[in-house]
Amino acid sequence: MFQVTPKSPLLSPACGAAQAKKKKAKCRGYHPFVKMIPITFISLQQSYFYQNKFKHAINKMETLKIFAPTTVGAIEVKNRIAMSPMTRCRAIGNIPGDLQAKYYAQRADAGLIITEGTSPSPNGLGYARIPGIFSEAQVEGWKKVTDAVHAKGGKIVIQLMHSGRIGHPANLPEGAQLVGPSAVKAAGQMWTDSLQMQDMGMPHALTANEVQSTKQEFITAAKNAIEAGFDGVELHGANGYLLEQFLSPFSNVRTDEYGGSVENRARFVLEVAAGLAEAIGGDRTGIRLSPYGVASDMPHYPEIDATYTYLAQQLSNIGIAYIHLVDHSALGAPAVPLAIKQTIRREFKGTLILAGGYDLQRAEADLESGLGDLIAFGRPFINNPDLVNRLENNHPLSQDLKMDLFYSAAEEGYCDYPVYEEAPNLAI
Ligand SMILES: Cc1cc2nc3c(=O)[nH]c(=O)nc-3n(C[C@H](O)[C@H](O)[C@H](O)COP(=O)(O)O)c2cc1C
Repeated sequence: MFQVTPKSPLLSPACGAAQAKKKKAKCRGYHPFVKMIPITFISLQQSYFYQNKFKHAINKMETLKIFAPTTVGAIEVKNRIAMSPMTRCRAIGNIPGDLQAKYYAQRADAGLIITEGTSPSPNGLGYARIPGIFSEAQVEGWKKVTDAVHAKGGKIVIQLMHSGRIGHPANLPEGAQLVGPSAVKAAGQMWTDSLQMQDMGMPHALTANEVQSTKQEFITAAKNAIEAGFDGVELHGANGYLLEQFLSPFSNVRTDEYGGSVENRARFVLEVAAGLAEAIGGDRTGIRLSPYGVASDMPHYPEIDATYTYLAQQLSNIGIAYIHLVDHSALGAPAVPLAIKQTIRREFKGTLILAGGYDLQRAEADLESGLGDLIAFGRPFINNPDLVNRLENNHPLSQDLKMDLFYSAAEEGYCDYPVYEEAPNLAI
């Protein structure tokens, strides 16, 4: 899921610094959907976001909806810009700390920060160096993050990401195992710090009891998150991880009440969402969904519309605060039909956050038309820690995005992106 750099301190001896240049191509590991970025990224950067081509079109920034405060369930947010969840693989030992606190505090001008995918279970740590929130040390580490963000007036929810079958045993702590709804292996490979690239592992199919204990892990993790000071919890129901693995008839071939029909395949997701709503409040619970997404070996199936319509209705009944809908077509994924976005909008009564390839103009248009209530920006927040300020003041966005450091263990490419500075006025 990350691209190894020669400076990464965690390069294994077999792929050490001396050999790193030669092996760089071989040792390259990507987050499955980020694989698509290199194909499209340069044109994306040049074409619509970074050229700031709408700079002069919008003069009165203060009148834009995107900068107006609102509420997301119980959370008051100062603007409608969310920071998308982004895995950065810098939680050594799966524990966040001072480094993450600095990174998120730098971005606290966002109305709502959604953290990187964070595992509720040792079994969900399929990627190297992603954080968890199931141990005391992790809760203590996250407290530093939430304190730092709150001290700057920001709001932050944690994304609970159980990687399920996406992973490799070499990334898991001792005693943990790759699990999934069924013993169906995902196509593709995974980076491991000890063995470099490896084929995805074969998941153990969760037994009926294990389905219940996995659900409980999500609920306990959500309680831990509140104890750690988070304003809420986002379930990662997107991008091919455990929750979406239950939704798809390709990864879920169970014959019990968690497999088969649309209702059965949605059952695990809905029970987890209901469990969180009961434990921490529906008004502090959200979920990310990716209908028509293909990341992490998620082929399309005939009942996609029926599945997500049903989910939107049921999640609305449960009363969670928000759905966070992701569309990765700007990254080369298939387009998400407008119709399903509109259906989810209609069926779900809470807040709708939209994400994927947004610039200011399109964000404002989707807010104005009522398609969404908040817009999440991902990559632009990496190299523009002061993104909100730049958008609000028409400052140019940085074009210096170091993709090879997205998932590096190094501090470089993480907290060292500068904020915008006016050129000195050299009046003569
Ligand atoms: C480095 C990186 C890591 C990501 N990690 C996650 C993640 O942990 N959870 C998630 O839901 N999406 C993840 N994404 C997807 C982003 O949240 C977002 O949907 C995607 O980048 C498209 O939005 P953008 O065009 O504004 O960047 C990641 C994206 C990037 C670039």
